[in-house]
Amino acid sequence: MPDPSDLEPSGTRIATIGGGSIGVAFAIVFARAGHPVRLSDPDATRRNAIPGLVGARLADLAAYDLLDEPAASVLARIEIVATPAAAVEGARYVQECAPEQLPLKRALFAELDRLAPEDAVLASASSAIPASAFAAELAGRARVLVVHPGNPPYLIPVAEVVPAPFTSEATVAFTQSLLAQAGLVPVLVRREVEGFVFNRLQGALLREAYCLVRDGVVSVEDVDRIVRDGLGPRWSVIGPFETADLNTRGGIASHAEKMGPAYARMGAERGQNDPWTPDLVADVAAQRRAVLPLELWEERVAWRDRRLMAHVRQRKTESQT
Ligand SMILES: NC(=O)c1ccc[n+]([C@@H]2O[C@H](COP(=O)([O-])OP(=O)(O)OC[C@H]3O[C@@H](n4cnc5c(N)ncnc54)[C@H](O)[C@@H]3O)[C@@H](O)[C@H]2O)c1
Repeated sequence: MPDPSDLEPSGTRIATIGGGSIGVAFAIVFARAGHPVRLSDPDATRRNAIPGLVGARLADLAAYDLLDEPAASVLARIEIVATPAAAVEGARYVQECAPEQLPLKRALFAELDRLAPEDAVLASASSAIPASAFAAELAGRARVLVVHPGNPPYLIPVAEVVPAPFTSEATVAFTQSLLAQAGLVPVLVRREVEGFVFNRLQGALLREAYCLVRDGVVSVEDVDRIVRDGLGPRWSVIGPFETADLNTRGGIASHAEKMGPAYARMGAERGQNDPWTPDLVADVAAQRRAVLPLELWEERVAWRDRRLMAHVRQRKTESQT
C-alpha cells in the first residue's frame, strides 16, 4: 500500500479513466502539478478531441496567469490511451471518471483492481455512489475510495475524500497528500452518506428554491440573483457557519438562540424536524470558538469586510472592462 512519505512532489504516475468533463479536468490538475498522466477513454472520437480541448483550457489558464510554466509543458505530460490496462501501467494513483452508473463502476473497478499495480490507490470521481456499492467484493478493496471533485477541479479546488469502512488509513493519507500537493483542498467525509456533503448542501438550497418558485414567492431569475449578488459573494469568503458566527454579536451560540426558532419553523413548514438542540449548538459553538476565540471576533469581522471589499472592487473592475 502506498505511503504518503513516498510521494514525489512532481513524479507520481497518474491514470485517469474516462476522458469526459471530469477526466480531462483531473488530467489538467495532475499534469499542472508536474505529474505524468495517462488518460484512457473507450470512445475514439473523444480521444481524438481531447488534446485540442486540453490545449484550449490550458491556454485560458495561462491567459489568466494560473499556470507556472508554458501550457505546452503541461500538455506534454498527458498521454491519451484507449484502454484502462494501458492507463494504469506503472500508476500509483488511478482516478476513475467514467459515467455515473453502478454496474459500469462495479465492472470497471473489478478490472482496475486486477490490472493496476498493487500499491496503486483506486479513486472514483463518483458524485453519489459510495465505494461500498461498487468495491466491497474486491480483493484490493482497502485501496479503493471516492474522490469527488468540484467541477472543474482546476478551478474549484475542494475535493471530498470519502473512504468506505473497508478503505485503509494509508490509502486515505496518501490520497489527501497527493491531492493537496496538486493544489486541491481535500476534505474528509467521515461516513458514506448519499450525495456526500457538497451535493447535500447544494441540494438543501435547491430544494428550497424549487419550493419557493412553485409557491410563486419568487422567480427563477430572482433566486439566482439572490445567490449571485448575496449569498454567493459572502460564501466566496466565509462559509455558512462562520457567516452566522460573524453576523451576530456573541457569536454562533447567540445566533442560534435568536434565529433557531425561526429556522425550526421554516424547516417544519417543509416537513423537516431537525431542531438545533442545545447539545448540537454547544458542539458547533465549541468548534467555532476553537477556530476563533470571541476576543478576536471584531478583528475577524473587519477582515471579512476587507475581503468583501476586494471582491466588490474586482466585480466593479470586471463590469468596466
Ligand atoms: N460533471 C460534473 O459536474 C461532475 C462533478 C463531480 C463528479 N462527477 C462524476 O464524475 C464522473 C464522470 O462525469 P463526467 O461529467 O466527466 O461525465 P462525461 O459524460 O462528461 O464523461 C464520461 C466519459 O467516460 C467515458 N466512458 C464511457 N464508458 C466508459 C467506460 N466503461 N470506461 C471508461 N470510460 C468510459 C465516455 O466516453 C466519456 O468520455 C461521474 O461519476 C460523475 O458523477 C461529475
